[in-house]
Amino acid sequence: MSERKILVTSALPYANGPIHLGHLVEYIQTDIWVRFQKQRGNECHFVCADDTHGTPIMLKADREGISPEALIAQVGKEHLADFTEFGVAFDNYHSTHSEENRAFSSLIYKRLRDAGHISSRTITQAFDPIKNMFLSDRFIKGECPKCGAPDQYGDSCEACGATYAPTELKNAVSTISGAKPIDKDSEHYFFNLADFTEMLQAWTKAGHLQPEVRNKLAEWLDGGLQQWDISRDAPYFGFEIPDAPGKYFYVWLDAPIGYMASFKNLCDKNNLNFDDYWALNSTSELYHFIGKDIIYFHALFWPAMLSGAHFRTPTAIFAHGFLTVNGEKMSKSRGTFITARTYLDHLNPEYLRYYFAAKLSAGVDDIDLNFDDFSQRVNSDLVGKVVNIASRCSGFISKRFDNKLSANCSEPGLFQEFLNANEQIAEHYEAREFGKAMREIMALADKANQYIDEKKPWLIAKQEGNEAELHEVCSMGINLFRILATYLKPVLPALTTEVERFLNIDLNAWPTNTQALSNHLISDFKPLMTRVEPDKISAIVEASKENLEKTSAQQPLNTTPKETLFEPIAGTIEFDDFAKLDLRIAKIITATHIEGSDKLLQLTLDIGDETRNILAGIKSAYQPEDLEGKLTLVIANLAPRKMRFGTSEGMVLAAGPGGKDIWILSPDEGAMAGMRVK
Ligand code: MSP
Ligand code: ZN
Repeated sequence: MSERKILVTSALPYANGPIHLGHLVEYIQTDIWVRFQKQRGNECHFVCADDTHGTPIMLKADREGISPEALIAQVGKEHLADFTEFGVAFDNYHSTHSEENRAFSSLIYKRLRDAGHISSRTITQAFDPIKNMFLSDRFIKGECPKCGAPDQYGDSCEACGATYAPTELKNAVSTISGAKPIDKDSEHYFFNLADFTEMLQAWTKAGHLQPEVRNKLAEWLDGGLQQWDISRDAPYFGFEIPDAPGKYFYVWLDAPIGYMASFKNLCDKNNLNFDDYWALNSTSELYHFIGKDIIYFHALFWPAMLSGAHFRTPTAIFAHGFLTVNGEKMSKSRGTFITARTYLDHLNPEYLRYYFAAKLSAGVDDIDLNFDDFSQRVNSDLVGKVVNIASRCSGFISKRFDNKLSANCSEPGLFQEFLNANEQIAEHYEAREFGKAMREIMALADKANQYIDEKKPWLIAKQEGNEAELHEVCSMGINLFRILATYLKPVLPALTTEVERFLNIDLNAWPTNTQALSNHLISDFKPLMTRVEPDKISAIVEASKENLEKTSAQQPLNTTPKETLFEPIAGTIEFDDFAKLDLRIAKIITATHIEGSDKLLQLTLDIGDETRNILAGIKSAYQPEDLEGKLTLVIANLAPRKMRFGTSEGMVLAAGPGGKDIWILSPDEGAMAGMRVK
C-alpha cells in the first residue's frame, strides 16, 4: 500500500458561542478518522479554525463592550482548549480573521470576477434607522401576515408555517434596537452560481457525495440555481471587498476559504507544499467533514467557487446527522444543551468518544445520546470487557512473575485470529462505519474474556507446579489486550497512552503481522478506566440548567431564543369574545405524522356531528399511535386556515410549557365526542 497524502477538515465553529456536545459529534468523528489514517502510515493533515465573521459576532462583542477582535481571540482560546481536552488533535487551528484568509478570499473573488461570475445590482432591504444597519430576516420580528401570530421572525411563521418576505410582517421591529425598520436600497454583489450548473451536475454525480446527499442535490439542481448574494453593507465584521469600499464579504464566502487559510498557515510553519493539496492538478485527497445543515454551502457553492477560481475540488464531502439527547433536540430548559466544558467538569471525555464511535455510521442519520445507554455501553464494553482483560491477568504477572511475560505464546491460533481481524476493522474505519468497527472489536474482547474464563487462571494459581501454565495464560491475555488497545487507539487516545505506559511499548503500528510479546517486561497495572457514575450525569444536567439561568439573565429579552410553542397572552378579551368560542370535546379517530414537518401531527377528529382535519403542533409530545381513540378539547368554529402542510379546520387546545410537556388529552370519564364545553 503506497502512502496517501490526505488533507482533512471539520467545519469551522462560529466564534459566538461555546462548543457543545452536538458539535463534538463532528469533531470527534473527524479526529477518529484522522488518527486512524495516521496510524495506517498515511500522511494526513487535519486543519480547522474559528469562523469569526458576521453580524451575530459583531453584535455580541458590542453587547459585551469589547472589540470583535478581542471577542474572537477569547472564544478561539476556549474552543481550542475544549477540543484539546476531548482529544481532538488538529494539526492546525486557525481563524478566518487572518491574513491568509484575507489573501485567499480576495484572490478567489478576483478570479471569479475576472471570469465574469460576479454581478451587482441594487436590492431593497429592511434597515434599522437607529442602529444604522441593514437587518437580515433573523433580526426582524413582527406579526405573521397570514395568521397574525405575534413575535414571528422575518422569514417564516412558527405558528402557521407561512413563509414571507420580512417587509410583509405587520408591526415589525428590529430585534436589535426595537426601532421600526424602514426600506432602504443598497447595491449588492452576487456570485452567478448558475454558471456552474453543468459543472455541478457532473460533480455531484461523480462519487464525491453520500447517496442521500447526492439525491438532495439533484433536487436543488433541478429546481435551478439562484444567484448567491455574497456582499453585506457596513457595519459588518469581515473583509472588505477589494473593489467595493464599504461592502464586505458575507461570512459564508470567506468561511470555507478558511480551510485553505488554515492549511496555508500550517504549510508556513511546517514547510509543507500548499500546491500539493490545492492546485488543480493535485493528486492528494481532500475531505470535508460537515453537518447535514451546511451541505448546500459545501456541495454547491464551494466546489463552484473552487472550480471558478482554478483550484482543485474536494475528493469527498462527508456529512453527518444531528445529535439528539434522550431522543429529543438538545434543550436548554431540559438541561440537555450541554457544553463541552460542562461535560469536562464531570466526566471522562473518552466515554463520549467511545459512545459516539459506537453510534456513528457513514450515513446522515441523526444520532441520539441516551444517558442510560451511554452509561451501560461504556461500563459494559470499555470497563467490563476491554480493561477487564488487563486487570484479570496483570495481577499474577506482577506478583508471580516480576512483571515479565512468558517466553511462549500458548495459543498462536487465537492470537492470529485477533490479527486477522485487522483488515475488516480497517475497512470499517476507512468507510466511517465506526459503529461496525466497535462491534468487531468488542466481539474480539468477548473472545479474550471467554479464553480467560475457560482457563481460569485464579484456579491454576492455587495448584502446585502449574506456574508455567499460569504464566502463559496470563501473558496470552495481555497479548490479546494489546491488540485490542491498538485497534481502539483512534477512538481512545488517552486510554491507549496509559496502556502504552503499562505495556512498555507504543501501539502506533496497525496490527498486521505483529509478533506476540515474549519475555517482555510490563509495568504495574493501574486502573485504566472507571465506571460512569450515574450522579455525574445528573450533575451535568443540573449544571446545564444553571448555565441557562446565567445566560438568560445576561441576554436582552429580544434575543431570547424561541423555546416554547405558546406565546404569552397579550391583554384581555371581553366576555363576548369568549362567548364566540365553540369549545367541544373531540374524539381522535386517527393521528399521523406529516412528511416534512417536525412539529405538526395530522389529526382526524370526531366532534359529534362531523369529522375535522386538524394540524396540531404537538409532535414533540405525542406519538400518533398514543393519541388514537383519546378525547381532547377543540375550538370547533375557528375559520379554516391554509398552512404549509394542508388546511387545518379548527384548533386543539393544549396546556404546558412546550417540548415533551404539552397536554391535550382530557379525562375520558363522562365525556363524549361532540359535547359542548361551555
Ligand atoms: N460556521 C459554520 C461552518 C462553516 S464551515 C466553512 C457553522 N458553524 S456551527 O458552529 O454552527 O457548526 C459547526 C459544525 O457543527 C457544523 O458542521 C454543524 O453541522 C455541526 N453541528 C452543530 N450542531 C450540531 C448538532 N447538534 N449535532 C451534530 N452536529 C452539529 O455551521
Ligand atoms: Zn402565521
